[in-house]
Amino acid sequence: MMNTDSYIKFMDIAFYPLTSAHFPLLLKWLEKPHVKEYWDKNISWTLELVREKYENHVAGYKILKLKDQIIKKPIHAFITHLDETPIGYIQYYNRHDFPSEHGYDLSELPQSCGTFDWYIAEEECIGKGIGTKILSLFIQKYFTNQFEYIFADPGVKNIPAIMCYKKLGFTTLKEVNNVLWMIKKLSS
Ligand SMILES: CC(C)(COP(=O)(O)OP(=O)(O)OC[C@H]1O[C@@H](n2cnc3c(N)ncnc32)[C@H](O)[C@@H]1OP(=O)(O)O)[C@@H](O)C(=O)NCCC(=O)NCCS
Repeated sequence: MMNTDSYIKFMDIAFYPLTSAHFPLLLKWLEKPHVKEYWDKNISWTLELVREKYENHVAGYKILKLKDQIIKKPIHAFITHLDETPIGYIQYYNRHDFPSEHGYDLSELPQSCGTFDWYIAEEECIGKGIGTKILSLFIQKYFTNQFEYIFADPGVKNIPAIMCYKKLGFTTLKEVNNVLWMIKKLSS
């Protein structure tokens, strides 16, 4: 097991584009209770289901089949590494490319607005400030210079995520159906 405490100040965080070689790792992670709580709660994952969902992400897009339309838009998926050890998953996309999973209208958000979904899968890395460092670096690398705003919608009970976003300068716009709308203006 990794001893995170001793080298947290010096940690080396990197994002590696998702490949099909990561699918067994995703299968293991997606079935962890603390990930499942916030991520595809009702799916019992198999390697085949992981492949079905994530092979498009590997190719750089997501297909969403709705009642009256099919949306195919870019999504950028990565495995997060801490000192060369894979510890989690993170993806980003244009917030306006896909409807909200919570079913609310996003049209009032700024036009240039990116968003992300993520988890730290390895339990020993949670609650040590690593998430905040990961997201800070991710924003710097993939959002600044590409979007004017970054949006997040954590559940009101997801205190670690909310605290992490607040530490990075997100402010809360409002609460909708037990979800917080949090936003941060990016400087380019
Ligand atoms: C969200 C997530 C990535 C955050 O990563 P993390 O490494 O745990 O976050 P950090 O340790 O950097 O920051 C969490 C902060 O919340 C605080 N916190 C956690 N639980 C808390 C509680 N019950 N009350 C008050 N503060 C709390 C921590 O103390 C920490 O703040 P600090 O650094 O000032 O002490 C991680 O918890 C995770 O993977 N969760 C499961 C998936 C998920 O929720 N994804 C996001 C969906 S929006």
